[in-house]
Amino acid sequence: MELRQFGQTNMRVTPIGLGTWVMGGWMWGGADEQDAIDAVKISVDGGVNLIDTAPIYGFGKAEEIVGKALKKNGGREKIILATKFGLEWDEKERIRRNTSRKRLLQEIDDSLRRLQTDYIDIYQVHWPDNNTPAEETMETLMELYEKGVIKAVGVSNYSVAQIEESMRFAPVHSLQPPFNMFEQEIKADILPFCVKNNIATLTYGTLCRGLLTGKFSKDSSFKKGDLRKYDPKFKGEQFAVYLNAVEKLKRIATQKNAATAQLAIEWTIEQPGVTCALIGARNPKQAQENIRILNGRVFSSEELKHAGKIIDETVAKPVGPEFMAPPKE
Ligand SMILES: NC(=O)c1ccc[n+]([C@@H]2O[C@H](COP(=O)([O-])OP(=O)(O)OC[C@H]3O[C@@H](n4cnc5c(N)ncnc54)[C@H](OP(=O)(O)O)[C@@H]3O)[C@@H](O)[C@H]2O)c1
Repeated sequence: MELRQFGQTNMRVTPIGLGTWVMGGWMWGGADEQDAIDAVKISVDGGVNLIDTAPIYGFGKAEEIVGKALKKNGGREKIILATKFGLEWDEKERIRRNTSRKRLLQEIDDSLRRLQTDYIDIYQVHWPDNNTPAEETMETLMELYEKGVIKAVGVSNYSVAQIEESMRFAPVHSLQPPFNMFEQEIKADILPFCVKNNIATLTYGTLCRGLLTGKFSKDSSFKKGDLRKYDPKFKGEQFAVYLNAVEKLKRIATQKNAATAQLAIEWTIEQPGVTCALIGARNPKQAQENIRILNGRVFSSEELKHAGKIIDETVAKPVGPEFMAPPKE
Protein backbone atom coordinates (compact mmCIF):
# COMPACT_ATOMS: atom_id res chain seq x y z
CA MET A 1 0.00 0.00 0.00
CA GLU A 2 1.39 3.41 -0.96
CA LEU A 3 2.13 5.57 2.08
CA ARG A 4 3.31 9.16 2.08
CA GLN A 5 5.36 10.98 4.67
CA PHE A 6 3.13 13.44 6.54
CA GLY A 7 5.37 16.50 6.63
CA GLN A 8 7.62 16.72 9.69
CA THR A 9 5.61 14.23 11.77
CA ASN A 10 6.31 10.53 12.19
CA MET A 11 3.04 9.64 10.45
CA ARG A 12 2.66 8.10 7.00
CA VAL A 13 -0.65 8.43 5.22
CA THR A 14 -2.42 6.87 2.26
CA PRO A 15 -2.69 9.28 -0.70
CA ILE A 16 -6.45 9.45 -0.15
CA GLY A 17 -8.36 10.07 3.06
CA LEU A 18 -12.05 9.60 3.86
CA GLY A 19 -13.98 12.87 4.22
CA THR A 20 -17.03 12.80 6.50
CA TRP A 21 -18.76 16.14 6.01
CA VAL A 22 -21.66 14.53 4.13
CA MET A 23 -22.13 11.96 6.93
CA GLY A 24 -23.41 14.67 9.25
CA GLY A 25 -26.16 15.43 6.72
CA TRP A 26 -25.92 19.18 7.32
CA MET A 27 -25.51 21.13 4.06
CA TRP A 28 -25.82 17.88 2.08
CA GLY A 29 -29.59 17.43 2.26
CA GLY A 30 -29.39 14.77 4.99
CA ALA A 31 -27.56 11.45 5.32
CA ASP A 32 -28.24 7.91 6.47
CA GLU A 33 -26.30 6.89 9.57
CA GLN A 34 -25.97 3.19 8.74
CA ASP A 35 -24.78 3.99 5.22
CA ALA A 36 -22.19 6.32 6.72
CA ILE A 37 -20.96 3.70 9.21
CA ASP A 38 -20.68 1.19 6.37
CA ALA A 39 -18.74 3.71 4.26
CA VAL A 40 -16.22 4.08 7.07
CA LYS A 41 -15.87 0.30 7.31
CA ILE A 42 -15.40 -0.19 3.57
CA SER A 43 -12.77 2.56 3.48
CA VAL A 44 -10.81 1.28 6.47
CA ASP A 45 -11.01 -2.36 5.33
CA GLY A 46 -9.90 -1.21 1.88
CA GLY A 47 -6.75 0.34 3.29
CA VAL A 48 -7.53 4.06 3.75
CA ASN A 49 -5.58 5.08 6.86
CA LEU A 50 -6.78 8.68 7.32
CA ILE A 51 -10.24 9.94 8.25
CA ASP A 52 -11.07 13.64 8.36
CA THR A 53 -14.00 14.97 10.34
CA ALA A 54 -15.12 18.08 12.26
CA PRO A 55 -17.56 18.99 15.05
CA ILE A 56 -19.52 21.26 12.72
CA TYR A 57 -20.35 18.38 10.33
CA GLY A 58 -23.91 17.78 11.48
CA PHE A 59 -23.20 19.56 14.82
CA GLY A 60 -21.40 16.57 16.31
CA LYS A 61 -23.09 13.90 14.19
CA ALA A 62 -20.20 13.06 11.85
CA GLU A 63 -17.73 12.76 14.72
CA GLU A 64 -20.17 10.47 16.54
CA ILE A 65 -20.53 8.29 13.45
CA VAL A 66 -16.76 7.99 13.06
CA GLY A 67 -16.47 7.15 16.76
CA LYS A 68 -19.18 4.47 16.49
CA ALA A 69 -17.77 2.98 13.31
CA LEU A 70 -14.25 2.70 14.71
CA LYS A 71 -15.51 1.27 17.97
CA LYS A 72 -17.73 -1.29 16.24
CA ASN A 73 -15.22 -2.48 13.68
CA GLY A 74 -12.04 -1.81 15.68
CA GLY A 75 -8.96 -0.23 14.22
CA ARG A 76 -8.76 3.18 15.94
CA GLU A 77 -5.01 2.64 16.40
CA LYS A 78 -4.54 1.90 12.65
CA ILE A 79 -6.26 5.15 11.69
CA ILE A 80 -4.88 8.65 11.52
CA LEU A 81 -7.80 10.65 12.81
CA ALA A 82 -8.05 14.29 11.83
CA THR A 83 -10.62 16.62 13.30
CA LYS A 84 -11.03 20.36 13.74
CA PHE A 85 -12.17 23.12 16.07
CA GLY A 86 -12.96 26.80 15.91
CA LEU A 87 -16.52 27.00 14.60
CA GLU A 88 -19.27 27.37 17.15
CA TRP A 89 -22.99 27.19 16.57
CA ASP A 90 -26.18 28.19 18.35
CA GLU A 91 -29.61 26.55 18.59
CA LYS A 92 -30.60 28.13 15.27
CA GLU A 93 -27.51 26.59 13.64
CA ARG A 94 -25.94 30.02 13.15
CA ILE A 95 -22.18 29.63 12.87
CA ARG A 96 -19.44 31.80 14.28
CA ARG A 97 -15.67 31.48 14.09
CA ASN A 98 -14.07 31.17 17.52
CA THR A 99 -10.55 29.85 18.05
CA SER A 100 -10.13 31.23 21.57
CA ARG A 101 -8.37 29.20 24.25
CA LYS A 102 -11.63 28.69 26.15
CA ARG A 103 -13.46 27.41 23.09
CA LEU A 104 -10.57 25.16 22.04
CA LEU A 105 -10.30 23.50 25.45
CA GLN A 106 -14.03 22.82 25.43
CA GLU A 107 -14.01 21.51 21.84
CA ILE A 108 -11.16 19.05 22.33
CA ASP A 109 -13.04 17.38 25.19
CA ASP A 110 -16.25 17.23 23.15
CA SER A 111 -14.44 15.74 20.14
CA LEU A 112 -12.60 13.12 22.21
CA ARG A 113 -15.92 12.06 23.72
CA ARG A 114 -17.77 11.87 20.40
CA LEU A 115 -14.89 10.08 18.69
CA GLN A 116 -14.54 7.66 21.65
CA THR A 117 -10.80 8.12 21.83
CA ASP A 118 -8.22 9.77 24.07
CA TYR A 119 -6.07 11.36 21.38
CA ILE A 120 -6.45 13.15 18.05
CA ASP A 121 -3.77 12.58 15.42
CA ILE A 122 -4.22 15.82 13.50
CA TYR A 123 -6.02 18.71 15.21
CA GLN A 124 -6.85 21.56 12.85
CA VAL A 125 -8.11 25.13 13.12
CA HIS A 126 -11.15 24.90 10.83
CA TRP A 127 -11.21 28.52 9.60
CA PRO A 128 -9.04 31.50 10.57
CA ASP A 129 -10.62 33.72 13.24
CA ASN A 130 -9.70 37.39 12.99
CA ASN A 131 -10.96 38.06 16.51
CA THR A 132 -8.50 35.75 18.30
CA PRO A 133 -4.75 36.42 18.22
CA ALA A 134 -2.78 33.59 16.54
CA GLU A 135 -0.63 33.48 19.66
CA GLU A 136 -3.57 32.44 21.88
CA THR A 137 -4.75 29.68 19.54
CA MET A 138 -1.31 28.29 18.70
CA GLU A 139 -0.02 28.31 22.27
CA THR A 140 -3.07 26.39 23.43
CA LEU A 141 -2.55 23.88 20.62
CA MET A 142 1.11 23.57 21.65
CA GLU A 143 0.04 22.67 25.19
CA LEU A 144 -2.17 19.86 23.89
CA TYR A 145 0.64 18.71 21.59
CA GLU A 146 3.15 18.58 24.42
CA LYS A 147 0.69 16.60 26.55
CA GLY A 148 0.29 14.08 23.70
CA VAL A 149 -3.46 14.71 23.40
CA ILE A 150 -2.86 15.75 19.79
CA LYS A 151 -0.09 14.35 17.60
CA ALA A 152 0.05 17.11 14.99
CA VAL A 153 -1.04 20.73 14.67
CA GLY A 154 -2.98 21.63 11.55
CA VAL A 155 -4.72 24.64 10.06
CA SER A 156 -7.37 24.85 7.37
CA ASN A 157 -8.40 27.54 4.90
CA TYR A 158 -5.36 29.64 5.85
CA SER A 159 -3.46 31.98 3.53
CA VAL A 160 0.34 31.94 3.39
CA ALA A 161 0.44 35.04 5.61
CA GLN A 162 -1.83 33.37 8.19
CA ILE A 163 0.32 30.22 8.26
CA GLU A 164 3.48 32.31 8.65
CA GLU A 165 1.93 34.22 11.54
CA SER A 166 0.87 30.95 13.24
CA MET A 167 4.34 29.42 12.79
CA ARG A 168 5.75 32.13 15.05
CA PHE A 169 4.02 30.45 18.02
CA ALA A 170 3.89 26.70 17.27
CA PRO A 171 4.83 24.25 14.54
CA VAL A 172 2.27 23.98 11.74
CA HIS A 173 2.42 20.36 10.60
CA SER A 174 -0.37 20.45 8.06
CA LEU A 175 -2.73 22.58 6.02
CA GLN A 176 -6.18 21.63 4.77
CA PRO A 177 -7.06 23.74 1.70
CA PRO A 178 -9.63 23.27 -1.10
CA PHE A 179 -8.13 21.64 -4.20
CA ASN A 180 -9.45 19.71 -7.17
CA MET A 181 -9.33 19.92 -10.97
CA PHE A 182 -11.80 22.83 -10.90
CA GLU A 183 -10.42 24.62 -7.83
CA GLN A 184 -6.70 25.05 -8.32
CA GLU A 185 -6.20 28.47 -6.71
CA ILE A 186 -3.68 27.16 -4.13
CA LYS A 187 -1.23 26.19 -6.86
CA ALA A 188 -0.17 29.85 -7.12
CA ASP A 189 1.36 30.33 -3.68
CA ILE A 190 -0.01 28.03 -0.96
CA LEU A 191 1.14 24.66 -2.32
CA PRO A 192 4.69 25.89 -3.14
CA PHE A 193 4.89 27.40 0.36
CA CYS A 194 3.90 24.06 1.92
CA VAL A 195 6.46 22.18 -0.15
CA LYS A 196 9.19 24.64 0.82
CA ASN A 197 8.32 24.43 4.51
CA ASN A 198 7.63 20.69 4.60
CA ILE A 199 4.01 21.24 5.64
CA ALA A 200 1.79 18.27 4.77
CA THR A 201 -1.46 18.95 2.93
CA LEU A 202 -4.88 17.34 3.29
CA THR A 203 -6.60 18.77 0.25
CA TYR A 204 -10.38 18.84 0.30
CA GLY A 205 -13.25 18.64 -2.18
CA THR A 206 -11.38 16.23 -4.48
CA LEU A 207 -14.53 15.48 -6.49
CA CYS A 208 -15.70 19.11 -6.42
CA ARG A 209 -18.75 18.04 -4.39
CA GLY A 210 -19.59 15.21 -6.75
CA LEU A 211 -19.31 17.25 -9.96
CA LEU A 212 -16.19 15.38 -11.02
CA THR A 213 -17.91 11.99 -10.80
CA GLY A 214 -19.76 12.76 -14.04
CA LYS A 215 -23.14 11.89 -12.51
CA PHE A 216 -24.76 15.30 -13.00
CA SER A 217 -26.53 16.75 -16.04
CA LYS A 218 -28.06 20.16 -16.71
CA ASP A 219 -31.37 18.80 -15.38
CA SER A 220 -29.94 17.74 -12.01
CA SER A 221 -31.61 19.35 -9.02
CA PHE A 222 -30.62 19.39 -5.39
CA LYS A 223 -32.59 18.82 -2.20
CA LYS A 224 -33.45 21.59 0.21
CA GLY A 225 -30.44 22.17 2.43
CA ASP A 226 -27.95 20.81 -0.11
CA LEU A 227 -25.05 23.26 -0.49
CA ARG A 228 -24.98 22.67 -4.23
CA LYS A 229 -28.21 24.68 -4.48
CA TYR A 230 -26.11 27.75 -3.61
CA ASP A 231 -22.84 26.75 -5.28
CA PRO A 232 -22.21 29.05 -8.29
CA LYS A 233 -20.61 26.13 -10.14
CA PHE A 234 -23.91 24.28 -10.13
CA LYS A 235 -25.93 27.14 -11.60
CA GLY A 236 -26.90 28.30 -15.08
CA GLU A 237 -24.20 28.99 -17.64
CA GLN A 238 -21.37 28.15 -15.23
CA PHE A 239 -22.88 24.73 -14.62
CA ALA A 240 -22.94 24.12 -18.39
CA VAL A 241 -19.25 25.03 -18.67
CA TYR A 242 -18.29 22.59 -15.91
CA LEU A 243 -20.52 19.82 -17.26
CA ASN A 244 -18.90 20.24 -20.65
CA ALA A 245 -15.44 19.80 -19.12
CA VAL A 246 -16.61 16.73 -17.18
CA GLU A 247 -17.96 15.17 -20.41
CA LYS A 248 -14.48 15.45 -21.92
CA LEU A 249 -12.88 13.88 -18.84
CA LYS A 250 -15.45 11.10 -18.97
CA ARG A 251 -14.26 10.21 -22.48
CA ILE A 252 -10.67 9.77 -21.24
CA ALA A 253 -11.86 7.66 -18.31
CA THR A 254 -14.12 5.49 -20.46
CA GLN A 255 -11.23 4.64 -22.78
CA LYS A 256 -9.53 3.12 -19.74
CA ASN A 257 -12.70 1.49 -18.47
CA ALA A 258 -12.46 3.65 -15.37
CA ALA A 259 -14.78 6.03 -13.51
CA THR A 260 -14.45 9.77 -14.07
CA ALA A 261 -13.97 10.08 -10.29
CA GLN A 262 -10.88 7.90 -10.56
CA LEU A 263 -9.35 10.25 -13.13
CA ALA A 264 -10.07 13.26 -10.89
CA ILE A 265 -8.57 11.50 -7.87
CA GLU A 266 -5.43 10.33 -9.68
CA TRP A 267 -4.89 13.80 -11.15
CA THR A 268 -5.17 15.37 -7.69
CA ILE A 269 -2.83 13.06 -5.84
CA GLU A 270 -0.17 13.47 -8.51
CA GLN A 271 -0.01 17.27 -8.14
CA PRO A 272 3.18 18.46 -6.42
CA GLY A 273 2.54 19.39 -2.80
CA VAL A 274 -0.54 17.21 -2.30
CA THR A 275 0.07 14.74 0.51
CA CYS A 276 -3.41 13.29 0.90
CA ALA A 277 -6.61 14.07 -1.02
CA LEU A 278 -9.81 13.95 1.04
CA ILE A 279 -12.83 12.41 -0.64
CA GLY A 280 -16.30 12.43 0.87
CA ALA A 281 -18.53 9.35 0.65
CA ARG A 282 -22.10 9.07 1.91
CA ASN A 283 -22.46 5.30 1.46
CA PRO A 284 -20.44 2.11 0.93
CA LYS A 285 -20.95 2.16 -2.84
CA GLN A 286 -19.32 5.59 -3.20
CA ALA A 287 -16.57 4.65 -0.75
CA GLN A 288 -15.84 1.46 -2.68
CA GLU A 289 -15.50 3.36 -5.94
CA ASN A 290 -13.32 6.06 -4.43
CA ILE A 291 -10.77 3.71 -2.85
CA ARG A 292 -10.09 1.85 -6.07
CA ILE A 293 -6.92 3.83 -6.69
CA LEU A 294 -5.31 2.12 -3.69
CA ASN A 295 -5.13 -1.02 -5.82
CA GLY A 296 -3.09 0.66 -8.53
CA ARG A 297 -3.21 3.57 -10.93
CA VAL A 298 -5.02 3.48 -14.24
CA PHE A 299 -3.85 6.66 -15.97
CA SER A 300 -0.39 7.48 -17.34
CA SER A 301 1.20 10.84 -16.57
CA GLU A 302 0.54 11.82 -20.21
CA GLU A 303 -3.17 11.11 -19.76
CA LEU A 304 -3.28 13.10 -16.53
CA LYS A 305 -1.54 16.02 -18.25
CA HIS A 306 -4.03 15.80 -21.10
CA ALA A 307 -6.90 15.86 -18.60
CA GLY A 308 -5.41 18.92 -16.91
CA LYS A 309 -5.13 20.67 -20.26
CA ILE A 310 -8.80 19.99 -20.98
CA ILE A 311 -9.72 21.79 -17.76
CA ASP A 312 -7.48 24.77 -18.59
CA GLU A 313 -9.03 25.06 -22.03
CA THR A 314 -12.68 24.41 -21.14
CA VAL A 315 -12.94 26.31 -17.88
CA ALA A 316 -11.35 29.56 -18.92
CA LYS A 317 -12.73 31.55 -15.97
CA PRO A 318 -12.93 29.24 -12.95
CA VAL A 319 -15.26 30.07 -10.05
CA GLY A 320 -13.68 29.63 -6.63
CA PRO A 321 -15.12 27.78 -3.61
CA GLU A 322 -15.45 30.99 -1.53
CA PHE A 323 -19.22 30.55 -1.18
CA MET A 324 -18.50 27.94 1.52
CA ALA A 325 -16.72 30.25 3.93
CA PRO A 326 -18.53 30.88 7.22
CA PRO A 327 -19.16 34.56 8.11
CA LYS A 328 -16.10 36.38 9.43
CA GLU A 329 -17.81 38.27 12.26
N1 LIG B 1 -11.65 22.26 5.92
C1 LIG B 1 -12.73 22.61 5.29
O1 LIG B 1 -13.20 23.75 5.37
C2 LIG B 1 -13.41 21.59 4.44
C3 LIG B 1 -14.38 21.98 3.48
C4 LIG B 1 -14.93 20.99 2.68
C5 LIG B 1 -14.57 19.66 2.87
N2 LIG B 1 -13.65 19.31 3.83
C6 LIG B 1 -13.25 17.89 4.05
O2 LIG B 1 -12.91 17.29 2.82
C7 LIG B 1 -13.76 16.16 2.58
C8 LIG B 1 -13.99 15.99 1.08
O3 LIG B 1 -14.67 17.08 0.53
P1 LIG B 1 -16.24 17.07 0.22
O4 LIG B 1 -16.84 15.91 0.93
O5 LIG B 1 -16.75 18.42 0.50
O6 LIG B 1 -16.34 16.92 -1.32
P2 LIG B 1 -15.96 15.83 -2.43
O7 LIG B 1 -15.06 14.81 -1.89
O8 LIG B 1 -15.55 16.63 -3.59
O9 LIG B 1 -17.40 15.23 -2.78
C9 LIG B 1 -18.02 14.34 -1.94
C10 LIG B 1 -19.46 14.10 -2.39
O10 LIG B 1 -19.54 13.67 -3.74
C11 LIG B 1 -20.49 12.62 -3.86
N3 LIG B 1 -19.71 11.40 -4.18
C12 LIG B 1 -18.58 10.96 -3.61
N4 LIG B 1 -18.12 9.84 -4.19
C13 LIG B 1 -18.98 9.56 -5.16
C14 LIG B 1 -19.04 8.53 -6.13
N5 LIG B 1 -18.11 7.59 -6.18
N6 LIG B 1 -20.08 8.52 -7.00
C15 LIG B 1 -21.02 9.48 -6.95
N7 LIG B 1 -21.02 10.49 -6.07
C16 LIG B 1 -20.01 10.53 -5.18
C17 LIG B 1 -21.20 12.51 -2.51
O11 LIG B 1 -22.29 13.43 -2.43
P3 LIG B 1 -23.77 13.14 -3.00
O12 LIG B 1 -24.05 11.69 -2.84
O13 LIG B 1 -24.66 14.01 -2.19
O14 LIG B 1 -23.73 13.58 -4.45
C18 LIG B 1 -20.12 13.02 -1.56
O15 LIG B 1 -20.62 13.56 -0.38
C19 LIG B 1 -15.01 16.49 3.41
O16 LIG B 1 -15.82 15.36 3.62
C20 LIG B 1 -14.38 17.04 4.66
O17 LIG B 1 -13.85 16.01 5.45
C21 LIG B 1 -13.07 20.26 4.58
